[in-house]
Amino acid sequence: MSSTSDNPLVRFAAFWWGLGVFSLFGVILLAIKLFTGNDDSVNPLEEAVAAKRYDARAAVDAAQAANLGYKEVEKGKVVQVPPTDVFGLLGKELVAAKPAAVEKPEQIVPGSDRQLAAADAPPSDFGAVDEMTPAADAEIDPAVIEAGKAQYMAATCFVCHGMNGEGGPLAPPLAASDWVTGPVSNLIRIQFRGLMGPITVSGKEYNLPAPMAPLSQQTDEQVASVLTYIRNSFGNKASAVLPEQVKMLRSEVGKPMLTADDLIKP
Ligand code: HEC
Repeated sequence: MSSTSDNPLVRFAAFWWGLGVFSLFGVILLAIKLFTGNDDSVNPLEEAVAAKRYDARAAVDAAQAANLGYKEVEKGKVVQVPPTDVFGLLGKELVAAKPAAVEKPEQIVPGSDRQLAAADAPPSDFGAVDEMTPAADAEIDPAVIEAGKAQYMAATCFVCHGMNGEGGPLAPPLAASDWVTGPVSNLIRIQFRGLMGPITVSGKEYNLPAPMAPLSQQTDEQVASVLTYIRNSFGNKASAVLPEQVKMLRSEVGKPMLTADDLIKP
């Protein structure tokens, strides 16, 4: 007994019919897609996320564009703050953000109770510190110079004062500076309190765009070595600075920023 489905001719025809119907299906789907304009390449969720990202980006760009020095953005208004107020303002922000958690003895937050108490403390005895300065021709441990060189990089002195102490748009030179080879107490105090305002270095007056911030997070040894390094590099030659001298002026930390008038003239 033979059935029609076994007929090779019928099988052949069924195959082509099947293929035809299948293709038609594809053509219909394509037509639907073309006519409904259904474009699934835009995902509404992704679009929302991207919009947020663009908003954040625009806010960052605006803040950066406005950030010449430091500006307070208040109720959508940009207020220019003089560079000398920058540290006070930053300090206030730090105080507002739980100063107890961030304040360490060697890092006094500007505007905190500790800083205000330090600012009122009696002046340190600079004379006693300068009297301890070793003789100019006393030998200096090369290891101290090496440590000072590393500290000159680590404390970012080179960024402002240049790799060779040549100075630049941000800071006066340390090479051939009468301050650098002058009284040691000046140098230690500059590290602990920072320095602002016009300054004459070896006869030339400088008006820098921003002050030198205090670098009081350094240890006594680090301050002593970096100062010993700058006093014996870039063509300078002067005595070493001792960690004991630095230690004696720790009470300077937290006092207001210095101006050249607060220093002993070199
Ligand atoms: C952010 C930039 C900056 C950094 C970092 C910096 N300084 Fe200064 N420094 C200055 C400015 C600005 C002055 C001048 C301040 C003023 O009177 O306006 C100055 C002044 C000095 C002076 C006295 C003036 C002179 O040229 O001799 C010494 C010494 C000094 N810096 C040493 C250092 C040392 C050491 C370091 C690193 C531990 C350092 N500075 C890091 C900007 C900087």
